[in-house]
Amino acid sequence: MSHLPSTAAEFYDKLAPFYHLLYGDWDGAINRQGKALRRLLGECGVSAGEPVLDAACGIGTQTIGLAVSGYAVTASDISQGAVERLRSELATRGIPAIARVDDLRTLSQTQSCSMSAVLACDNSVPHLLSDEEIQNAFASCYRCLRPGGVAIFSVRDYATMPRVNPDVRPYGMRYEAGHRFLAVQVWEWDGDQYDLRIYLTSEAPDGACTTQVLRSRYYAVPIDRLLVLLEQAGFVDAYRLDDVLFQPVLIARRTV
Ligand SMILES: C[S@@+](CC[C@H](N)C(=O)[O-])C[C@H]1O[C@@H](n2cnc3c(N)ncnc32)[C@H](O)[C@@H]1O
Repeated sequence: MSHLPSTAAEFYDKLAPFYHLLYGDWDGAINRQGKALRRLLGECGVSAGEPVLDAACGIGTQTIGLAVSGYAVTASDISQGAVERLRSELATRGIPAIARVDDLRTLSQTQSCSMSAVLACDNSVPHLLSDEEIQNAFASCYRCLRPGGVAIFSVRDYATMPRVNPDVRPYGMRYEAGHRFLAVQVWEWDGDQYDLRIYLTSEAPDGACTTQVLRSRYYAVPIDRLLVLLEQAGFVDAYRLDDVLFQPVLIARRTV
């Protein structure tokens, strides 16, 4: 089995035009997640108007909801294609937010101590393929936070997942502008990592079909390990919440 089938940037560049179709109702997800994150940020003492960095923004599932809620959102992602799609979504919706390409492992575009909150949601962190890479990302998030600021990550709970090979996970059938669209994930385990393929099939009204196969790789890092890595990066009060988003959420604070 080949390692590093494609970079995360290449994978999400190709996925960006279709990403919303992975959801049955992407706008509904934006609203639900925006509301949940607004409540969580408020509980953490971060109010609307304060600066928030969405450091793995993708096409904006969290960015858009938070910007609509009044947060001063800066969004970054390693995928140029995802950032361009987000810019276009923001322009179409008339929502103000900065969107730019940056790597979660360095966050070189974001000034130190400039953010009240930093987030990376929907299992973005496990795209980093070693503890060292994750540690670099957590240290970068810590650097960007003001004293007392909070970091929020949502991740899969790999410890509870059965490991079968191949693990085939279909999304639902989608219909858009007369096109039919079907996406299927296939996971293939390789130690504590797995290769993920998404098979994307699109059928036009005249019956013409295209299928693309996009490949990426994940490190199935357990949540307990992430909590340790957060503390090693300097964070305090790191904990897990299970009832905020559709994945467990990890919260940690920069010291005051
Ligand atoms: C599953 S998507 C989630 C995107 C967005 N948070 C959402 O929920 O729609 C994971 C995102 O992590 C980004 N990502 C992966 N590695 C990254 C890195 N090193 N730096 C910044 N973003 C990265 C990908 O480009 C992708 O947009």
